[in-house]
Amino acid sequence: MAKVALITGVTGQDGSYLSEFLLEKGYEVHGTIRRSSVDFRERIAHLEGKPHFHLHYADLGDSMSVLGVIGKVRPDEIYNLAAQSHVQVSFDSPEFTADVDAVGVLRILEAVRQLGMTKKCRIYQASTSELYGKVEEVPQNENTPFHPYSPYAVAKQYGFWIVKEYREAYNMYCCSGILFNHESERRGETFVTRKITLAAARISQGLQDCLYLGNMDSLRDWGYAKDYVECMWLILQQDKPEDFVIATGVQHSVREFTELAFRHAGIELEFKGEGLDEIGICVKDVRSKKEKGRESLEGKVLVRVSPDFYRPTDVVNLWGDPTKAKAKLGWNPVKTTFEQLVQLMVEHDIAKVASEGAAAKVRTNLAEYLEKGVVK
Ligand code: NAP
Ligand code: GDD
Repeated sequence: MAKVALITGVTGQDGSYLSEFLLEKGYEVHGTIRRSSVDFRERIAHLEGKPHFHLHYADLGDSMSVLGVIGKVRPDEIYNLAAQSHVQVSFDSPEFTADVDAVGVLRILEAVRQLGMTKKCRIYQASTSELYGKVEEVPQNENTPFHPYSPYAVAKQYGFWIVKEYREAYNMYCCSGILFNHESERRGETFVTRKITLAAARISQGLQDCLYLGNMDSLRDWGYAKDYVECMWLILQQDKPEDFVIATGVQHSVREFTELAFRHAGIELEFKGEGLDEIGICVKDVRSKKEKGRESLEGKVLVRVSPDFYRPTDVVNLWGDPTKAKAKLGWNPVKTTFEQLVQLMVEHDIAKVASEGAAAKVRTNLAEYLEKGVVK
Protein backbone atom coordinates (compact mmCIF):
# COMPACT_ATOMS: atom_id res chain seq x y z
CA MET A 1 0.00 0.00 0.00
CA ALA A 2 1.33 3.45 -0.93
CA LYS A 3 1.86 5.80 1.99
CA VAL A 4 -0.53 8.76 2.17
CA ALA A 5 0.79 12.27 2.83
CA LEU A 6 -1.16 15.44 3.50
CA ILE A 7 0.64 18.73 2.76
CA THR A 8 -0.82 21.98 4.04
CA GLY A 9 0.49 24.96 2.07
CA VAL A 10 0.92 22.85 -1.07
CA THR A 11 0.77 25.93 -3.32
CA GLY A 12 3.83 27.48 -1.67
CA GLN A 13 7.49 27.20 -2.63
CA ASP A 14 8.20 24.24 -0.33
CA GLY A 15 4.82 22.57 -0.83
CA SER A 16 5.39 22.31 -4.56
CA TYR A 17 8.88 20.77 -4.21
CA LEU A 18 7.76 18.41 -1.44
CA SER A 19 4.84 17.21 -3.57
CA GLU A 20 7.22 16.35 -6.41
CA PHE A 21 9.58 14.62 -3.99
CA LEU A 22 6.85 12.47 -2.37
CA LEU A 23 5.20 11.57 -5.70
CA GLU A 24 8.64 10.39 -6.87
CA LYS A 25 8.78 8.20 -3.75
CA GLY A 26 5.44 6.60 -4.64
CA TYR A 27 3.26 8.44 -2.10
CA GLU A 28 -0.39 9.29 -2.56
CA VAL A 29 -0.12 13.07 -2.10
CA HIS A 30 -2.97 15.26 -0.85
CA GLY A 31 -2.62 19.03 -0.56
CA THR A 32 -4.76 21.77 0.95
CA ILE A 33 -5.64 24.89 -0.99
CA ARG A 34 -7.58 28.03 -0.14
CA ARG A 35 -10.32 29.63 -2.14
CA SER A 36 -8.96 32.62 -4.01
CA SER A 37 -10.43 35.01 -6.56
CA VAL A 38 -7.41 34.14 -8.73
CA ASP A 39 -7.42 30.41 -9.38
CA PHE A 40 -4.05 30.10 -11.07
CA ARG A 41 -1.84 27.84 -8.94
CA GLU A 42 1.44 28.46 -10.73
CA ARG A 43 3.77 26.28 -8.66
CA ILE A 44 1.65 23.13 -8.78
CA ALA A 45 -0.02 23.56 -12.18
CA HIS A 46 2.21 20.80 -13.62
CA LEU A 47 0.99 18.34 -10.94
CA GLU A 48 -2.75 18.96 -11.18
CA GLY A 49 -4.50 16.08 -12.92
CA LYS A 50 -1.85 13.51 -11.99
CA PRO A 51 -3.56 10.36 -10.62
CA HIS A 52 -1.74 10.35 -7.24
CA PHE A 53 -2.07 14.08 -6.57
CA HIS A 54 -5.25 15.39 -4.91
CA LEU A 55 -6.36 18.80 -3.70
CA HIS A 56 -8.80 19.75 -0.93
CA TYR A 57 -10.05 23.08 0.39
CA ALA A 58 -8.94 23.79 3.95
CA ASP A 59 -7.79 26.83 5.88
CA LEU A 60 -5.64 26.68 9.00
CA GLY A 61 -7.82 29.38 10.50
CA ASP A 62 -10.88 27.10 10.26
CA SER A 63 -10.74 24.09 12.59
CA MET A 64 -13.75 22.42 10.93
CA SER A 65 -12.00 22.34 7.58
CA VAL A 66 -8.79 21.05 9.20
CA LEU A 67 -10.66 18.27 11.02
CA GLY A 68 -12.63 17.51 7.86
CA VAL A 69 -9.64 17.07 5.56
CA ILE A 70 -7.59 15.03 8.03
CA GLY A 71 -10.59 12.77 8.73
CA LYS A 72 -11.22 12.28 5.02
CA VAL A 73 -7.62 11.68 3.92
CA ARG A 74 -6.46 9.81 7.08
CA PRO A 75 -2.80 10.45 6.21
CA ASP A 76 0.22 8.52 7.43
CA GLU A 77 2.21 11.74 7.38
CA ILE A 78 1.18 15.39 7.66
CA TYR A 79 3.55 18.13 6.54
CA ASN A 80 2.30 21.40 7.99
CA LEU A 81 3.86 23.98 5.67
CA ALA A 82 0.94 26.42 5.61
CA ALA A 83 1.70 29.80 7.12
CA GLN A 84 1.61 33.54 6.70
CA SER A 85 5.33 33.27 6.00
CA HIS A 86 6.44 36.86 5.39
CA VAL A 87 8.19 38.38 8.42
CA GLN A 88 7.61 42.03 7.48
CA VAL A 89 3.94 41.39 6.68
CA SER A 90 3.53 39.89 10.16
CA PHE A 91 4.02 43.40 11.59
CA ASP A 92 1.04 44.58 9.49
CA SER A 93 -1.14 41.48 10.13
CA PRO A 94 -0.07 40.21 13.56
CA GLU A 95 -3.41 38.69 14.60
CA PHE A 96 -3.89 36.75 11.36
CA THR A 97 -0.28 35.56 11.59
CA ALA A 98 -0.83 34.34 15.15
CA ASP A 99 -4.06 32.57 14.24
CA VAL A 100 -2.56 30.68 11.31
CA ASP A 101 1.08 30.20 12.36
CA ALA A 102 0.43 29.46 16.05
CA VAL A 103 -3.15 28.26 16.65
CA GLY A 104 -3.24 26.64 13.20
CA VAL A 105 -0.61 24.15 14.40
CA LEU A 106 -2.73 23.33 17.45
CA ARG A 107 -5.76 22.75 15.19
CA ILE A 108 -3.86 20.07 13.28
CA LEU A 109 -2.51 18.33 16.39
CA GLU A 110 -5.91 18.34 18.06
CA ALA A 111 -7.65 17.05 14.93
CA VAL A 112 -5.25 14.11 14.76
CA ARG A 113 -5.83 13.41 18.46
CA GLN A 114 -9.62 13.70 18.32
CA LEU A 115 -9.77 11.45 15.26
CA GLY A 116 -7.89 8.76 17.20
CA MET A 117 -4.98 8.86 14.74
CA THR A 118 -2.11 9.49 17.18
CA LYS A 119 -0.52 6.08 16.53
CA LYS A 120 -1.03 6.13 12.76
CA CYS A 121 -0.10 9.68 11.81
CA ARG A 122 3.30 11.41 11.95
CA ILE A 123 3.43 15.22 11.82
CA TYR A 124 6.13 17.54 10.49
CA GLN A 125 5.95 21.18 11.59
CA ALA A 126 7.67 23.84 9.44
CA SER A 127 9.57 25.68 12.12
CA THR A 128 12.13 28.38 11.46
CA SER A 129 15.49 29.92 12.25
CA GLU A 130 13.51 33.10 13.01
CA LEU A 131 13.00 31.55 16.48
CA TYR A 132 16.65 32.48 17.21
CA GLY A 133 15.78 36.07 16.26
CA LYS A 134 17.92 38.46 18.27
CA VAL A 135 20.53 35.75 18.38
CA GLU A 136 22.11 34.67 21.62
CA GLU A 137 24.75 32.47 19.98
CA VAL A 138 26.47 32.18 16.57
CA PRO A 139 26.16 29.77 14.81
CA GLN A 140 22.80 28.42 16.03
CA ASN A 141 22.07 24.76 16.79
CA GLU A 142 19.25 22.73 18.41
CA ASN A 143 20.39 23.89 21.89
CA THR A 144 20.65 27.62 21.16
CA PRO A 145 18.10 29.61 23.22
CA PHE A 146 15.22 31.18 21.29
CA HIS A 147 14.68 34.93 21.17
CA PRO A 148 11.89 35.54 18.62
CA TYR A 149 11.97 39.05 17.21
CA SER A 150 8.80 39.55 15.11
CA PRO A 151 5.09 38.67 15.37
CA TYR A 152 5.83 35.88 12.85
CA ALA A 153 8.59 34.40 15.02
CA VAL A 154 6.52 34.65 18.21
CA ALA A 155 3.69 32.75 16.49
CA LYS A 156 6.09 30.13 15.14
CA GLN A 157 7.53 29.74 18.64
CA TYR A 158 4.08 28.72 19.90
CA GLY A 159 3.94 26.22 17.04
CA PHE A 160 7.30 24.77 18.07
CA TRP A 161 6.33 24.40 21.74
CA ILE A 162 2.86 22.98 21.14
CA VAL A 163 4.37 20.29 18.90
CA LYS A 164 6.84 19.40 21.67
CA GLU A 165 4.01 19.42 24.21
CA TYR A 166 1.84 17.01 22.19
CA ARG A 167 4.85 14.77 21.64
CA GLU A 168 5.44 14.52 25.39
CA ALA A 169 1.84 14.61 26.64
CA TYR A 170 0.27 12.20 24.14
CA ASN A 171 3.32 10.32 22.87
CA MET A 172 2.64 11.54 19.34
CA TYR A 173 5.22 11.34 16.55
CA CYS A 174 5.38 15.06 15.82
CA CYS A 175 8.48 17.15 15.31
CA SER A 176 9.82 20.43 14.02
CA GLY A 177 12.38 21.14 11.33
CA ILE A 178 14.09 24.39 12.31
CA LEU A 179 14.84 25.42 8.76
CA PHE A 180 17.09 28.33 7.87
CA ASN A 181 16.26 30.43 4.79
CA HIS A 182 15.88 28.38 1.64
CA GLU A 183 15.31 29.88 -1.75
CA SER A 184 14.70 28.83 -5.33
CA GLU A 185 13.38 29.90 -8.69
CA ARG A 186 9.91 29.37 -7.13
CA ARG A 187 10.55 31.72 -4.17
CA GLY A 188 7.85 34.36 -3.56
CA GLU A 189 8.76 37.60 -5.31
CA THR A 190 8.79 39.78 -2.18
CA PHE A 191 11.43 37.77 -0.30
CA VAL A 192 14.78 39.47 -0.64
CA THR A 193 16.62 36.90 -2.80
CA ARG A 194 13.92 36.64 -5.46
CA LYS A 195 13.34 40.38 -5.41
CA ILE A 196 17.04 40.78 -6.18
CA THR A 197 17.29 38.10 -8.90
CA LEU A 198 14.19 39.39 -10.68
CA ALA A 199 15.46 42.97 -10.49
CA ALA A 200 18.87 41.94 -11.84
CA ALA A 201 17.10 40.22 -14.76
CA ARG A 202 14.78 43.17 -15.45
CA ILE A 203 17.49 45.83 -15.11
CA SER A 204 19.83 43.92 -17.41
CA GLN A 205 17.04 43.80 -20.02
CA GLY A 206 16.15 47.49 -19.66
CA LEU A 207 12.80 46.84 -17.92
CA GLN A 208 13.55 48.31 -14.49
CA ASP A 209 15.67 51.30 -13.48
CA CYS A 210 16.66 50.66 -9.90
CA LEU A 211 16.34 48.11 -7.08
CA TYR A 212 15.31 49.44 -3.66
CA LEU A 213 16.34 47.36 -0.64
CA GLY A 214 16.24 47.63 3.16
CA ASN A 215 19.00 46.41 5.47
CA MET A 216 21.82 45.17 3.24
CA ASP A 217 24.04 44.25 6.20
CA SER A 218 21.63 41.50 7.26
CA LEU A 219 23.27 38.05 7.28
CA ARG A 220 21.55 34.83 6.27
CA ASP A 221 22.35 31.15 5.83
CA TRP A 222 20.72 30.55 2.43
CA GLY A 223 20.14 27.05 1.02
CA TYR A 224 18.24 25.57 -1.93
CA ALA A 225 14.59 24.71 -1.21
CA LYS A 226 14.66 21.61 -3.40
CA ASP A 227 17.42 20.14 -1.18
CA TYR A 228 15.59 21.09 2.04
CA VAL A 229 12.32 19.22 1.35
CA GLU A 230 14.24 15.95 1.49
CA CYS A 231 15.04 16.74 5.14
CA MET A 232 11.36 17.22 5.96
CA TRP A 233 10.77 13.67 4.79
CA LEU A 234 13.89 12.28 6.51
CA ILE A 235 12.81 13.85 9.82
CA LEU A 236 9.59 11.78 9.71
CA GLN A 237 11.42 8.52 8.86
CA GLN A 238 13.49 8.35 12.09
CA ASP A 239 12.87 5.76 14.83
CA LYS A 240 11.94 8.43 17.35
CA PRO A 241 10.61 11.96 16.83
CA GLU A 242 13.22 14.70 17.20
CA ASP A 243 13.70 18.32 16.15
CA PHE A 244 16.46 19.22 13.69
CA VAL A 245 18.25 22.36 12.52
CA ILE A 246 18.50 22.37 8.72
CA ALA A 247 21.03 24.85 7.33
CA THR A 248 24.08 25.03 5.05
CA GLY A 249 26.51 26.30 7.72
CA VAL A 250 27.56 29.13 5.37
CA GLN A 251 26.60 32.78 5.86
CA HIS A 252 26.38 35.76 3.46
CA SER A 253 24.99 39.31 3.58
CA VAL A 254 22.16 40.73 1.48
CA ARG A 255 24.79 42.97 -0.15
CA GLU A 256 26.89 39.92 -1.15
CA PHE A 257 23.81 38.23 -2.61
CA THR A 258 23.05 41.39 -4.61
CA GLU A 259 26.61 41.73 -5.96
CA LEU A 260 26.70 38.11 -7.09
CA ALA A 261 23.22 38.16 -8.63
CA PHE A 262 24.00 41.26 -10.69
CA ARG A 263 27.34 39.75 -11.75
CA HIS A 264 25.47 36.74 -13.17
CA ALA A 265 23.30 39.20 -15.09
CA GLY A 266 26.44 40.79 -16.57
CA ILE A 267 26.53 43.82 -14.26
CA GLU A 268 29.43 44.62 -11.88
CA LEU A 269 28.35 46.74 -8.92
CA GLU A 270 30.38 48.91 -6.57
CA PHE A 271 28.77 49.96 -3.29
CA LYS A 272 29.40 53.42 -1.78
CA GLY A 273 28.05 55.25 1.26
CA GLU A 274 26.34 53.96 4.38
CA GLY A 275 22.86 53.32 5.79
CA LEU A 276 20.08 55.08 3.90
CA ASP A 277 22.69 56.81 1.69
CA GLU A 278 24.28 53.62 0.42
CA ILE A 279 24.14 53.15 -3.36
CA GLY A 280 25.19 50.42 -5.78
CA ILE A 281 26.73 51.85 -8.96
CA CYS A 282 27.26 49.91 -12.18
CA VAL A 283 30.99 49.85 -12.97
CA LYS A 284 30.83 47.31 -15.81
CA ASP A 285 27.94 46.31 -18.06
CA VAL A 286 28.64 43.24 -20.19
CA ARG A 287 25.19 42.80 -21.77
CA SER A 288 24.98 46.30 -23.30
CA LYS A 289 27.59 45.24 -25.84
CA LYS A 290 25.48 42.22 -26.83
CA GLU A 291 22.06 43.86 -26.81
CA LYS A 292 21.39 46.39 -29.50
CA GLY A 293 19.12 49.24 -28.55
CA ARG A 294 20.02 49.28 -24.88
CA GLU A 295 22.33 51.98 -23.64
CA SER A 296 25.13 51.09 -21.23
CA LEU A 297 24.30 51.08 -17.53
CA GLU A 298 27.85 52.04 -16.58
CA GLY A 299 27.93 54.91 -14.08
CA LYS A 300 24.22 54.50 -13.23
CA VAL A 301 22.92 53.95 -9.70
CA LEU A 302 21.12 50.60 -9.83
CA VAL A 303 20.65 49.87 -6.13
CA ARG A 304 19.37 52.24 -3.45
CA VAL A 305 18.19 51.88 0.14
CA SER A 306 14.59 52.66 1.10
CA PRO A 307 13.34 52.91 4.71
CA ASP A 308 10.13 51.21 3.49
CA PHE A 309 11.97 47.91 3.71
CA TYR A 310 13.34 48.37 7.21
CA ARG A 311 11.54 46.33 9.89
CA PRO A 312 10.56 47.52 13.38
CA THR A 313 12.87 44.78 14.67
CA ASP A 314 15.14 42.92 12.27
CA VAL A 315 16.91 39.59 12.60
CA VAL A 316 20.42 40.21 11.31
CA ASN A 317 22.70 37.29 12.10
CA LEU A 318 21.31 33.88 11.15
CA TRP A 319 23.88 31.14 10.70
CA GLY A 320 22.93 27.50 11.21
CA ASP A 321 24.94 24.55 12.46
CA PRO A 322 23.69 21.42 10.61
CA THR A 323 25.93 18.94 12.51
CA LYS A 324 23.00 16.94 13.90
CA ALA A 325 21.23 16.69 10.53
CA LYS A 326 24.46 15.53 8.88
CA ALA A 327 25.10 12.88 11.53
CA LYS A 328 21.57 11.53 12.11
CA LEU A 329 19.84 12.14 8.78
CA GLY A 330 22.93 11.58 6.63
CA TRP A 331 22.07 14.83 4.88
CA ASN A 332 24.51 16.82 2.72
CA PRO A 333 23.91 20.52 3.57
CA VAL A 334 25.87 21.91 0.63
CA LYS A 335 24.53 19.78 -2.19
CA THR A 336 23.79 23.10 -3.87
CA THR A 337 26.29 25.84 -2.96
CA PHE A 338 25.45 29.50 -2.41
CA GLU A 339 27.11 30.37 -5.73
CA GLN A 340 25.09 27.71 -7.58
CA LEU A 341 21.88 28.87 -5.91
CA VAL A 342 22.36 32.49 -6.98
CA GLN A 343 23.31 31.42 -10.50
CA LEU A 344 20.31 29.15 -11.00
CA MET A 345 17.90 31.79 -9.70
CA VAL A 346 19.34 34.54 -11.93
CA GLU A 347 19.48 32.33 -15.03
CA HIS A 348 15.86 31.32 -14.44
CA ASP A 349 14.74 34.93 -14.05
CA ILE A 350 16.68 36.18 -17.08
CA ALA A 351 14.90 33.55 -19.21
CA LYS A 352 11.54 34.30 -17.57
CA VAL A 353 11.80 38.06 -18.14
CA ALA A 354 12.99 37.52 -21.73
CA SER A 355 10.12 35.14 -22.53
CA GLU A 356 7.53 37.43 -20.95
CA GLY A 357 8.57 40.15 -23.43
CA ALA A 358 5.96 42.89 -23.31
CA ALA A 359 4.27 41.22 -20.35
CA ALA A 360 7.47 41.71 -18.36
CA LYS A 361 6.80 45.44 -18.60
CA VAL A 362 3.45 44.87 -16.92
CA ARG A 363 5.15 42.86 -14.19
CA THR A 364 7.65 45.69 -13.84
CA ASN A 365 4.75 47.81 -12.62
CA LEU A 366 4.50 45.39 -9.71
CA ALA A 367 8.25 45.77 -9.20
CA GLU A 368 7.74 49.53 -9.07
CA TYR A 369 5.08 49.09 -6.42
CA LEU A 370 7.55 46.92 -4.55
CA GLU A 371 10.17 49.63 -4.88
CA LYS A 372 7.82 52.23 -3.48
CA GLY A 373 6.93 50.05 -0.53
CA VAL A 374 3.26 49.71 -1.48
CA VAL A 375 3.73 45.96 -1.25
CA LYS A 376 6.52 44.67 0.94
P1 NAP B 1 5.13 30.21 1.07
O1 NAP B 1 5.70 30.05 -0.31
O2 NAP B 1 4.76 31.57 1.56
O3 NAP B 1 3.85 29.24 1.16
C1 NAP B 1 2.98 29.33 2.24
C2 NAP B 1 1.80 28.40 2.00
O4 NAP B 1 0.89 28.51 3.11
C3 NAP B 1 0.99 28.73 0.73
O5 NAP B 1 0.58 27.53 0.13
C4 NAP B 1 -0.22 29.47 1.29
O6 NAP B 1 -1.37 29.36 0.49
C5 NAP B 1 -0.43 28.68 2.59
N1 NAP B 1 -1.26 29.39 3.56
C6 NAP B 1 -1.12 30.66 4.02
N2 NAP B 1 -2.09 30.93 4.90
C7 NAP B 1 -2.87 29.82 5.01
C8 NAP B 1 -4.04 29.50 5.74
N3 NAP B 1 -4.63 30.37 6.55
N4 NAP B 1 -4.56 28.25 5.60
C9 NAP B 1 -4.01 27.36 4.76
N5 NAP B 1 -2.91 27.62 4.01
C10 NAP B 1 -2.35 28.83 4.15
O7 NAP B 1 6.14 29.60 2.15
P2 NAP B 1 7.38 28.60 1.96
O8 NAP B 1 8.59 29.41 1.71
O9 NAP B 1 7.00 27.52 1.05
O10 NAP B 1 7.52 28.04 3.44
C11 NAP B 1 6.79 26.89 3.87
C12 NAP B 1 6.73 26.86 5.39
O11 NAP B 1 8.05 26.84 5.92
C13 NAP B 1 6.06 28.07 6.03
O12 NAP B 1 5.38 27.62 7.18
C14 NAP B 1 7.21 28.98 6.43
O13 NAP B 1 6.85 29.79 7.51
C15 NAP B 1 8.25 27.94 6.81
N6 NAP B 1 9.65 28.32 6.65
C16 NAP B 1 10.10 28.77 5.44
C17 NAP B 1 11.44 29.07 5.28
C18 NAP B 1 11.99 29.56 3.96
O14 NAP B 1 13.11 30.08 3.94
N7 NAP B 1 11.27 29.39 2.85
C19 NAP B 1 12.33 28.89 6.35
C20 NAP B 1 11.84 28.40 7.56
C21 NAP B 1 10.50 28.11 7.69
P3 NAP B 1 -1.77 30.47 -0.61
O15 NAP B 1 -1.00 30.08 -1.85
O16 NAP B 1 -3.22 30.29 -0.74
O17 NAP B 1 -1.35 31.80 -0.06
N1 GDD C 1 11.92 41.01 2.04
C1 GDD C 1 12.91 41.91 2.01
N2 GDD C 1 12.86 42.94 1.11
N3 GDD C 1 13.94 41.77 2.89
C2 GDD C 1 14.95 42.67 2.82
C3 GDD C 1 14.95 43.72 1.90
C4 GDD C 1 13.84 43.88 1.01
O1 GDD C 1 13.78 44.78 0.19
N4 GDD C 1 16.10 44.43 2.07
C5 GDD C 1 16.79 43.85 3.05
N5 GDD C 1 16.10 42.78 3.52
C6 GDD C 1 16.52 41.92 4.63
C7 GDD C 1 15.46 41.72 5.71
O2 GDD C 1 15.44 42.84 6.59
C8 GDD C 1 15.96 40.44 6.36
O3 GDD C 1 16.93 40.77 7.35
C9 GDD C 1 16.63 39.68 5.21
O4 GDD C 1 16.78 40.62 4.13
C10 GDD C 1 15.84 38.47 4.69
O5 GDD C 1 14.51 38.88 4.45
P1 GDD C 1 13.44 37.90 3.70
O6 GDD C 1 13.99 37.44 2.43
O7 GDD C 1 12.14 38.63 3.69
O8 GDD C 1 13.41 36.62 4.64
P2 GDD C 1 13.32 36.44 6.23
O9 GDD C 1 14.66 35.95 6.66
O10 GDD C 1 12.78 37.64 6.89
O11 GDD C 1 12.23 35.29 6.37
C11 GDD C 1 12.30 34.11 5.56
O12 GDD C 1 13.14 33.15 6.18
C12 GDD C 1 12.67 32.68 7.45
C13 GDD C 1 13.73 31.68 7.98
O13 GDD C 1 14.76 32.37 8.61
C14 GDD C 1 10.88 33.58 5.37
O14 GDD C 1 10.91 32.54 4.43
C15 GDD C 1 10.33 33.04 6.68
O15 GDD C 1 9.08 32.39 6.42
C16 GDD C 1 11.32 32.02 7.26
O16 GDD C 1 10.85 31.54 8.51
